[in-house]
Amino acid sequence: MIFDVVTIFPDFFRSILEYGLLKRARVSGQVEIRLHDLRDFTDDRHRSVDDRPFGGGPGMVFKPEPIFRAVEALKAESGGAQVPVVLLSPQGRLLTQAVAQEFAKAPRLTLLCGRYEGVDERVAEYLATEEISIGDYVLSGGELAAAVLMETVVRLVPGVLGNEASAAEDSFSLPESPLENGAQGLLDCPHYTRPADFCGHKVPEVLLSGNHQQVRRWRRRRALEKTWRNRPELLARVSLSDEEQALLEDIKRAACEPALHGEKAFAPAASGRTVKSS
Ligand code: ADE
Repeated sequence: MIFDVVTIFPDFFRSILEYGLLKRARVSGQVEIRLHDLRDFTDDRHRSVDDRPFGGGPGMVFKPEPIFRAVEALKAESGGAQVPVVLLSPQGRLLTQAVAQEFAKAPRLTLLCGRYEGVDERVAEYLATEEISIGDYVLSGGELAAAVLMETVVRLVPGVLGNEASAAEDSFSLPESPLENGAQGLLDCPHYTRPADFCGHKVPEVLLSGNHQQVRRWRRRRALEKTWRNRPELLARVSLSDEEQALLEDIKRAACEPALHGEKAFAPAASGRTVKSS
């Protein structure tokens, strides 16, 4: 898979390309990440990429010409192939695991990193095929967002993760392949490693039992519980098996009657904020 990243800060990406998954995927040749300096596509002495906004207001806006020129140069180089062009912006569609799974199918992606107050809207309207946001908060630019998108997508490219199943078991994964069983789209269950007793904080006994059936059931329960406590809105999007539905009912009952079950009193608020149940 090839990523073409258009940015005014190509050096921003150098360190993230030298560590972990992105480095491994690049070195093994599964992924190529090409950085393009937007200023190389300017045509004035000052290599300017931005200008004042029409209608007034604070800040500067990225001019359309260098961005169009950059994408046209990339298109020419790829022989006119239809490549998704993604503009990273807080006004975009939210990046989710499902969106990342779609992107992971493309052999090539162009990422446009905006800066300052924004990017001339004609880029979103006539050049980008997608406008993507990584969350409901504002960053100073699209570079971090592009890095997040690449990391999320690259781990889904077949063969990049050593163990294919581990991407399928990630939080938010949706069923796509036979590797992925059970209800997906939930948060991941908790994980533990040695020591089994850390300062009196013990690892749940079932994980030491060697009983795979019980371990599987415990993991399912804890994934459901975490999701219900921290992201209850995700439960509306998944279809649960009868067993999982029963587990969820039990989790809710236990939270309402903590004294009987030795659990923390809790109920997720409709707003997604956590509050103590009365
Ligand atoms: N640029 C600034 N904020 C952003 C966000 N939340 N997502 C993507 N790009 C951005």
